[in-house]
Amino acid sequence: MAKKKNIVYMCTECGGESAKWSGQCPFCGEWNTMVEMKAQEIDESDKRRRSAAEPGKRASANRLRQVEADTHQDRLDTGIGELNRVLGGGIVPGSLTLISGEPGIGKSTIIMQAAVNIAKKYGKILYVSGEESEEQLKLRADRICPDLNDDFYTLAETNIENVAAVTEEMEPKFLIIDSIQTMYSQAIDSAPGSVSQVRECGNEFMRIGKVRNIPIFIVAHVTKSGELAGPKTVEHLVDCVLNFVGERNQDLRILRSFKNRFGTTSEIGAFEMGEHGLAEIKDLSKRFLEDMEDGAQGSMVTAVYEGTRPLLLEVQALSAPSGVGFARRTAIGFDNQRLNMILAVLERQAGLSLQEQDVYVNVVGGFRPDGTSTDLAVALAIHSTYRGISCRKDTLALGEIGLTGDLRRIQYAERIIKEAARMGFRRVILPKSQARRLGDLKAAGAISGTESGVSLLGVKNISEAIAAYQK
Ligand code: TYD
Ligand code: MG
Repeated sequence: MAKKKNIVYMCTECGGESAKWSGQCPFCGEWNTMVEMKAQEIDESDKRRRSAAEPGKRASANRLRQVEADTHQDRLDTGIGELNRVLGGGIVPGSLTLISGEPGIGKSTIIMQAAVNIAKKYGKILYVSGEESEEQLKLRADRICPDLNDDFYTLAETNIENVAAVTEEMEPKFLIIDSIQTMYSQAIDSAPGSVSQVRECGNEFMRIGKVRNIPIFIVAHVTKSGELAGPKTVEHLVDCVLNFVGERNQDLRILRSFKNRFGTTSEIGAFEMGEHGLAEIKDLSKRFLEDMEDGAQGSMVTAVYEGTRPLLLEVQALSAPSGVGFARRTAIGFDNQRLNMILAVLERQAGLSLQEQDVYVNVVGGFRPDGTSTDLAVALAIHSTYRGISCRKDTLALGEIGLTGDLRRIQYAERIIKEAARMGFRRVILPKSQARRLGDLKAAGAISGTESGVSLLGVKNISEAIAAYQK
């Protein structure tokens, strides 16, 4: 085969580039790490070019204050509120977004729903599918949005040069690539889905998007363990990385952002997979607490703050005498190491004897909350199951537990309490210092409205919290 001219070899370990292939990287000495890459050509119209100098002229630095930022870039409304929010308020023109998730989770569905809305509002969109035929796409579209308009175009293609040619000719308002693992560039010999193909395709889509100012969504499959296998290599390149998760046998789906150059990464979007595609869940707390029983043992409500809104969750715990051997500790939706720490604190500070007890903790609804504000609820749920004490359904527990059993303040307590009041909670157990401050605010009239119906039980440590929840 004729040697391809614009190929270089890059080490996946150290990133070193060489014009010649060898089994061992000439820079870091690792074996079998050299993969072929297309050498980057410089495109004059590419806005990513680092230096604004004209050819032959020296580059010069600019005063940041004098740089004219294009603040009037209107974001595209996807017509899906939850998706807009995760993106930071819609799709930024020319941005490149990677949406990852396990196969079958609903990536194609959510993007198609967004694309249909965009086509209605802004004009032509192009859905490039390397996985499904046009007939299959049509079947899905019929299911989720029978009122498709004429601006929704599809292309069943895996060759990126062809995709680029069609895109340049058509100039769509929005481009979808489903999925990056099926795309290949003929400039590179390796198979679609390989590191070098994924990187090359990622680079090419970046170029198309930035030069033509077309926002692009790229679908990427990940493995069960959450590895972004090949697509990991383009994460640094793209503007946003979204992750779509959920249990396939449950209909709840959570969309998170891992990286967002145009917004925060703490927002989540909640959806429900149904007969006609994905429906937004506006009131996630209500859904999580729907089936909660009053007076149950080992069940406590807590809250986390996700992005711009509080989220109330039920934590359940079960302890049972273990058989022979080591006691088992299992946590679903909660960090195992933190569970071990909480168990140790309960032993030392609250006199629970848990060595011969299996302990299970579960965050109801298949959600994995971030942060430590759920610590106290976990500890109280364990105490309740161990001692056989019923928990009241109208009580919320908030706080991070320290190694000495003391309670630490949590963020956004005020807004969480507002949400708790809206959901009909009557009591909130929270760190004393925080309760005092919120109490002052309440007395001064700085907090008004429905939350006045909630009593704040300030506690200093785990023992006080145990006394408070049993009242
Ligand atoms: P899909 O979007 O194809 O997943 P992905 O692109 O992430 O691989 O969705 C796949 C699953 O969703 C499939 O098993 C069927 C289910 N589904 C519904 O339950 N309702 C629907 O309206 C649609 C379109 C799909
Ligand atoms: Mg798909």
